[in-house]
Amino acid sequence: MLRFLTAGESHGEALIGILEGMPAGLKIDAGDINKDLKRRQEGYGRGPRMQIEHDRAKMLSGLMRGVTIGSPIAIIIENKDSGIDKLPAVKNPRPGHADLAGILKYGFKDARCVLERASARETAVRVGIGGICKILLADFDINILSRILMIGGVKSEKMIKKKIDEAGKSKDTLGGVFEIIIKGVPPGLGSYAHYDRRLDAGIAEAIMSIPAVKAVEIGNAIESSAMPGSKVHDEIFYSKEKGIYRKINNAGGIEGGMSNGEDIIARGYMKPISTLMDGLNTIDIDTKKQVKASTERSDVCAVPVAGVVGEAILAFVIAKVFLEKFGGDSIAEVKRNYKGYIAGLKM
Ligand SMILES: Cc1cc2nc3c(=O)[nH]c(=O)nc-3n(C[C@H](O)[C@H](O)[C@H](O)COP(=O)(O)O)c2cc1C
Repeated sequence: MLRFLTAGESHGEALIGILEGMPAGLKIDAGDINKDLKRRQEGYGRGPRMQIEHDRAKMLSGLMRGVTIGSPIAIIIENKDSGIDKLPAVKNPRPGHADLAGILKYGFKDARCVLERASARETAVRVGIGGICKILLADFDINILSRILMIGGVKSEKMIKKKIDEAGKSKDTLGGVFEIIIKGVPPGLGSYAHYDRRLDAGIAEAIMSIPAVKAVEIGNAIESSAMPGSKVHDEIFYSKEKGIYRKINNAGGIEGGMSNGEDIIARGYMKPISTLMDGLNTIDIDTKKQVKASTERSDVCAVPVAGVVGEAILAFVIAKVFLEKFGGDSIAEVKRNYKGYIAGLKM
């Protein structure tokens, strides 16, 4: 089974990830992973922290001469902006963050003990883990892309940039919608047989696990919910040249909890960034007096970046179900299983 764990605080020494279950024989080019780490740091609307960090993933185990050997792969990304022990206490919990619920839960007197781990900085190492999964999937011609559909209520690139600039100037923040498209997925990944093996459920959980994502859509679910079935469902056709095919893809590539061979399309709806430079109303946790929320360095908008994180996390989800179906201890074995299945589909 493919699985991973991450560790690390936002201003700790490093972020660490361990990916287990990757078959032996996969050539890993760290350059591909670092490209995605760079994309995670860019994106219009990012804050000053990203000018400090220059994320690079170093692989500490699981490879020999750049090729996987079947053992757990450990990744480390060092934080340039470390020094967690010297940072000031955070007494004014920020609305929209984990701060208040976290201090109540653990009995802390300092929200920094919460926010250091709750911070979306952790998503950097998930991009590293997802980068390895992307390399596996690319070997089977499965590719993952993302794009922005809307930010702050507007859709064109020009309007989006304008909106972000305006929000930055007025010390406000924005959310929006990103879309992930996965091409080349064979039919039959996931399962209808049990709730926790449904691929749509796994995708929804993964996208929802990205901080600030508050809704997930698969295919055209939101629009479809207001339309009659005759206009929604993707009718099935066959021709000798194309084989089985569809004319539309409202289902977003998933029916009955399984991939159906069409592109998988999933969307994440992100709330506006919670840290406002003017500080929202909150209380001091010691005195209980009304004060303004603490302001950590912050992004104005992170929707483009959330798309990159979404690609990574869905790469993991698809790699997991892919290896469940075709799994073996070596890439050669996975390829045999995969080819046999694809040949069977054509009969
Ligand atoms: C890539 C990325 C970057 C983020 N950057 C910030 C940020 O700079 N400032 C901020 O207040 N929230 C940021 N967030 C959102 C918070 O991490 C998130 O809202 C907070 O942890 C509370 O979790 P929740 O919104 O899921 O409830 C970011 C989220 C993502 C995915």
